Amino acid sequence: MALVEHNFANTDALNTAFCERIVGILKAGIEQNGRASIAVSGGRTPQALFAALSVSALDWSKVDISLVDDRWVATDDAASNDKLVREHLLVNNAAVANFVGLKTADKNAEDAVAACTEKLAAIHTPFDVLILGMGEDGHTASLFPCSAQIQQGLDLTSNAVYLAVQPTTAPHQRMSLTLAEILKSKNIFLHLTGESKKQVLNVALEGNDEAQMPIRAVLNRAEVELMWAP
Ligand code: 6PG
Repeated sequence: MALVEHNFANTDALNTAFCERIVGILKAGIEQNGRASIAVSGGRTPQALFAALSVSALDWSKVDISLVDDRWVATDDAASNDKLVREHLLVNNAAVANFVGLKTADKNAEDAVAACTEKLAAIHTPFDVLILGMGEDGHTASLFPCSAQIQQGLDLTSNAVYLAVQPTTAPHQRMSLTLAEILKSKNIFLHLTGESKKQVLNVALEGNDEAQMPIRAVLNRAEVELMWAP
């Protein structure tokens, strides 16, 4: 499938254009279906985008927001994507959006897969917008090449929506959408900043081993829009 590249001069220009694109898709989804939904990734990259989205003019009360993945930590932990979204996206105009986080009281993520799947069933899917990041190892979502769960996460014959993952090169258990669920999304974006991530993407595009660089599994099966700035 295709990678549609949008390369911006700087992150401000990227976030302004990306925000407008997302708001346009969500508005269309609300007009067509009464509600729209977006799944976001965590990490460092999206924080400024979240801030731009939070002040956008949109009927956020008709938007469902969820996470592509999260670290299995308390939602007040600095590593929590739930915390990141609550502090940077669910504020200002977007404060009234319906947020469905992943973290439960379960000590282990694998004990929460059914509960997360049930929570997702209650919101509008397939996602109108799904935003992926990528690590330097080519992981996306929490589909980590180093994890014992990677083949399960990439298995398109599975009906699993979420997967509990234990990376070995990054901290914390994770809860992640599976590849199969990611691919159902109507608009998939890959949000990257910096030359280093662009080089990693180029390596991913040149190779074929999807378990080695799981971002390949998405790029090979979906039209993905790259939103990149140096
Ligand atoms: C996470 C993300 C993960 C992230 C990449 C890039 O929970 O960490 O979902 O897939 O998108 O690791 O993270 P940075 O934006 O911090 O480089």
